[in-house]
Amino acid sequence: MTSIGIHDLELATAHHVVELDRLAEYAGVDPAKYRLGLGQDQMSFPAPDEDIITMGASAALPVIERNGIDGIRTLIFATESGVDQSKAAGVSVHRLLGLPPQVRVTEFKQACYSGTAALQAAIGIVSRFPGERVLVITSDVARYALDSPGEPTQGAGAVAMLVGENPALVEIERAAGIFTADVDDFWRPNDSTTAVVDGALSMSAYLDALTGSWDDLRAQGGPEIDQIDRMLYHQPFTKMAKKGQQRLAEHTGAPLSAALTREEQAAAPAGARDTGLFTGSIYNRRLGNSYTASLYAALAALLDHDTELAGRRIGMFSYGSGSVSEFLTGVVQPGYAEHGAASRVEAALDARVPLEVAEYRELHARVLPSTEDAQTPRVTRAPFRFAGVHGQARQYERTAG
Ligand code: CAA
Repeated sequence: MTSIGIHDLELATAHHVVELDRLAEYAGVDPAKYRLGLGQDQMSFPAPDEDIITMGASAALPVIERNGIDGIRTLIFATESGVDQSKAAGVSVHRLLGLPPQVRVTEFKQACYSGTAALQAAIGIVSRFPGERVLVITSDVARYALDSPGEPTQGAGAVAMLVGENPALVEIERAAGIFTADVDDFWRPNDSTTAVVDGALSMSAYLDALTGSWDDLRAQGGPEIDQIDRMLYHQPFTKMAKKGQQRLAEHTGAPLSAALTREEQAAAPAGARDTGLFTGSIYNRRLGNSYTASLYAALAALLDHDTELAGRRIGMFSYGSGSVSEFLTGVVQPGYAEHGAASRVEAALDARVPLEVAEYRELHARVLPSTEDAQTPRVTRAPFRFAGVHGQARQYERTAG
């Protein structure tokens, strides 16, 4: 059977960064609560001329430059933070990337999960039309109310993936575990720019979905826990991956290490199996939550930093509140290390412009109404920018960047 999976991927983020130590100071909270309690150091924050479309297009551009557009007849844009109730964000990306008219474009929604639905749909399309390739873009701005418990878990990021036959990076295996449960743990009403969340319920719903989708993976003939070399989790904050790993270890009886930091790795009990929890958290710790992109940012971090992945099997747990989740597995391909994007991603993270808490709070509160024409200030250094609103339509343009 032909192998299908992720042939290439790229991560992009926003122009600004908020240091969580500064936010903790402002909020009168011990900084260790954010760094250790949540496992987060920073959060990306978009400039006024950035959004999911500019980040998504910026992630996809290098993928297109490296691979060309031959065979791309589908673009699926997965997001929680859509910018229009009707038009798919990917249609703007399609123009910004200069893709031909013969590309179907659509948007997938189910909180943080829809990137995985997009990946599975892409695999289905490639199975039916061998030789075609599908561009999957996951892009989100995670936004909670100011002064709410969710505030330090905000963030922004996009991961673009090219899905096709004989992938260079990760073959996605056939068996997948699925778990859906109607639960009001996190959602965002149409008239709200910030998510509504029941924090405690969201964590228990996540963990129940993890064991539920694991059980289904096994029922579908998926691998045993001992046959999975690395584990990646959706990371609303990186400590959630640790909680997931602990739950999976308890559920399966496998001695999986839940060490999330170098210090915890050094202190891990003898016999604990390291499945890359720390490595998979390297980017997310600095990005914050990127909803649909979060699991794939973890995959990017693992591929960029783990030098012993060739032929190894990765387990990936995708969770979208509401809730839909999926446990999938993939096998890393021999030449994966040539992708080596660590220096690019780290340079992009380092280049973000810090915001003082007062500046961040002012930007957070700013709302651009769709009813008035407006131009945004030129801030971003990304290749694309959101130029403003004209005739109630959002305008996007290429920058010199
Ligand atoms: N030093 C070290 N650790 C400290 C500390 C200190 N001084 N003070 C507190 N902590 C620890 C706490 O012990 C706790 O750790 P454990 O969970 O391991 O016990 C951790 O810091 C967080 O502390 P609290 O439980 O008091 O935190 P909180 O109530 O202020 O908020 C939260 C936590 C509910 C997760 C909140 O950040 C939130 O609502 N986040 C958004 C929802 C979310 O991300 N849910 C996750 C599952 S849903 C999902 O995955 C979908 C999605 O993307 C949203």
